[in-house]
Amino acid sequence: MVEAKASACYSPFETIKTPEGKIDHSFGPYSETREHLDDWFPKLLSNLGVAEGLTVELGSGHGHSAEYFLPYVAVTGRCILSEPDERGFAGCLEKYGSDSRVEVKNKSALEALGELEDGSIDRIFYLNSIHLDEEREEVIELAFKKLKPGRLLKPGRLLIANSSFIYEAVPLSEGRLYPRWMARAYKILESLNPQLHLFLRKNKDKLKHMHRAPKADYDALFTTKGFSLADLAPYGLAFEQPGSQLRNSFIGLFKIAQYSVWIYGTMPFVIEGEEVSDEEIERRLDILTRAQQEALLEVYPQIIGPRISPRNNAIWVAEKPQNQEMSSKSQDGVRKPVSVAA
Ligand SMILES: C[S@@+](CC[C@H](N)C(=O)[O-])C[C@H]1O[C@@H](n2cnc3c(N)ncnc32)[C@H](O)[C@@H]1O
Repeated sequence: MVEAKASACYSPFETIKTPEGKIDHSFGPYSETREHLDDWFPKLLSNLGVAEGLTVELGSGHGHSAEYFLPYVAVTGRCILSEPDERGFAGCLEKYGSDSRVEVKNKSALEALGELEDGSIDRIFYLNSIHLDEEREEVIELAFKKLKPGRLLKPGRLLIANSSFIYEAVPLSEGRLYPRWMARAYKILESLNPQLHLFLRKNKDKLKHMHRAPKADYDALFTTKGFSLADLAPYGLAFEQPGSQLRNSFIGLFKIAQYSVWIYGTMPFVIEGEEVSDEEIERRLDILTRAQQEALLEVYPQIIGPRISPRNNAIWVAEKPQNQEMSSKSQDGVRKPVSVAA
């Protein structure tokens, strides 16, 4: 196994390992920093009244976001956590397998929703996952069918999603960081493994993107499927309001640089149609992790320095209208939340 060696001044930087001592390429440990949920999520939940009924989380990872919402949503209700990645699922199961309020499923968002009855769900969480899900269009459409309508006298019948992987979220300093970081990672890779470097260079155009898209595209995704989007300004959580910002940290990026989905978005470690063993995939991911982490340690201090750059986080609180028809209340599908105190 290969590993980035951080210099002494970055000694707290550690590559996260699985219990078997391998580099963990699944998404979980990044969430331990909690910077993606701190502040805004508890604030929303405590205002929305979500203590009862069925809650479903799509893309629950290792269950870190569930730690945030379970105290709010599972007071008198039950909860399904669903995660397609094997390691994430195992982590979630270990945490919540014996909790009688919780059912943990090893399923994609689309599969998890597909097996529930229409109109049976009180709320759906799709946290930090929507930009990773290639089926998100179908997911939002199905979510609309599966949610109970409206929330007159029944608070919290909603779909809550968020993402900081949208065009407008990236601050200027980060905009400069990413191309420099990746260019350096390719250089380091060339010296570590010329063969893999050549493979990547040849297949660079085949890389799978992290689905970064303009915020308006995501807004439209919800409204065209029939949802009304709540106005989050009264909570201070509208896009570009300070309450919705994340503090992206150097150490958070160091951790995220080891995750396969992240790596896939920047360095294509497999190409479509290629037959490759699990061991080979693991080997390539290990090398790419090292290249990405070493490059980050060099480039980040030069570009960002000791500053922590805030990044905007788009939050969507989507409601299925009572009459289940497209909301005609506003042109843009955005309306004020009903009877919730900010
Ligand atoms: C950044 S993690 C977020 C985990 C957790 N929700 C949190 O906020 O801490 C993104 C998760 O989305 C999951 N994911 C990717 N594609 C998915 C899909 N098609 N359906 C459901 N989840 C998916 C990944 O496996 C990963 O666990």
